[in-house]
Amino acid sequence: MTLTEQASPYLKLDEVPSTKLIYLDNSATSFPKPNEVYVFMDTFYRNYGVNPGRSGFDLCLEAGSLVDETRKLLCRFFGGTDSNRLVFGYNSTDVLNLAIFGLIEPGEHVVTTHVEHNATLRPLWKLEQEGVEVDWVDFDEKGYVDPQEIIRRFKKNTSTVVMNHGSNVIGTVQDVATVGKACRERGIHLILDVSQTAGMVPVKMDELCADVICFTGHKSLMGPMGIGGMYVREGVEISRTRAGGTGVKSAQRDHLDEYPYRMEYGTPNLPGIAGLNAGVKWVEKHGIEAIHRHEMALWKRLRDGLKPIEGVTLYCADDVPGKERISVLSFNVNGLEAMDTGTMLDVDYNIACRTGLHCTPMVHEHLGTDKLHGAARFGIGAFNTEADIDAAIHGVSEIAEMQRKKK
Ligand SMILES: Cc1ncc(COP(=O)(O)O)c(C=O)c1O
Repeated sequence: MTLTEQASPYLKLDEVPSTKLIYLDNSATSFPKPNEVYVFMDTFYRNYGVNPGRSGFDLCLEAGSLVDETRKLLCRFFGGTDSNRLVFGYNSTDVLNLAIFGLIEPGEHVVTTHVEHNATLRPLWKLEQEGVEVDWVDFDEKGYVDPQEIIRRFKKNTSTVVMNHGSNVIGTVQDVATVGKACRERGIHLILDVSQTAGMVPVKMDELCADVICFTGHKSLMGPMGIGGMYVREGVEISRTRAGGTGVKSAQRDHLDEYPYRMEYGTPNLPGIAGLNAGVKWVEKHGIEAIHRHEMALWKRLRDGLKPIEGVTLYCADDVPGKERISVLSFNVNGLEAMDTGTMLDVDYNIACRTGLHCTPMVHEHLGTDKLHGAARFGIGAFNTEADIDAAIHGVSEIAEMQRKKK
């Protein structure tokens, strides 16, 4: 290995799936998926695509084994100790709803942040109408929430902190461990939204002192859409807000009390579980640190390329020593609505990005971008290359130049 090879921050991949466009919307959904994901989903579903745990024939047992194996895989991935506490749902919105409505009662006090996604905001706004007091902590000009400010808000009746780990708009990773330790000392539950960080930075239950982590399969875990889940720490009993079939103890009138069935309802998304299984194995094969290094080297190239362009505003993109981030970068071109920037990038440069409020209205209110209908956002993924980033810089720089000339 040469010195240059050793110094390269980029992933060495045997195969980079090709796309018809330059895809920079990985924070919404990673695309394409590793080839292993497509192959395993297809093979497994063709051969064993039946309802697991319902009957005793071989296909059904094989399907059940896949579900069990994937529970174990994800339990280990998140540093859990009991794979039965790894519960499958459809996505993180689904399991955040189960955790939030199942743990928080009227009369209780909850602390959360302005970095949250609607998957958290909307359940909390609903609970506010039902007599839950919700305290909102803002982020600073660099995009970080002060963990001490969260702790300062604790009251006698604080039952829960609901918190985002990595922002889908500004890419900042919050110091969850400090909040988690304070919660643990006081018996306050910590529900963590790891939708953006799972598969991108290490997410470990005990290091973060989380009680529930909610993940989605279709982002950096490289799985398909429609599969997600949560890990619920031992001793945390989420009340059931749904009931239905599990294939187990069918004569019982109440939905099952024991995990994972306590939180699972009806036929599971078996093709999704198969895809997630292959996606997580792909992440483990390449290593989270190597994937993050690759994406952040591209992120830095993008940030450094966009920053000097006159008329381009980047949001919370400065390096902050000792603080972590993920490969999301939001920006606007002065005088243009975000959606128009996105359309030009798509039509004229064949580049896919996401524009709008990104289901995260409070971040945009804070940044003042709510008045511009949001921002344009690049989400860098494991399959992006330097050439993709250079094309994005080139596109944005020409769009900004056109705007300057119009004035
Ligand atoms: C931080 C965050 N939380 C929650 C979600 C919701 O994910 P899903 O739509 O998969 O439920 C997203 C998706 O964009 C997200 O970025």
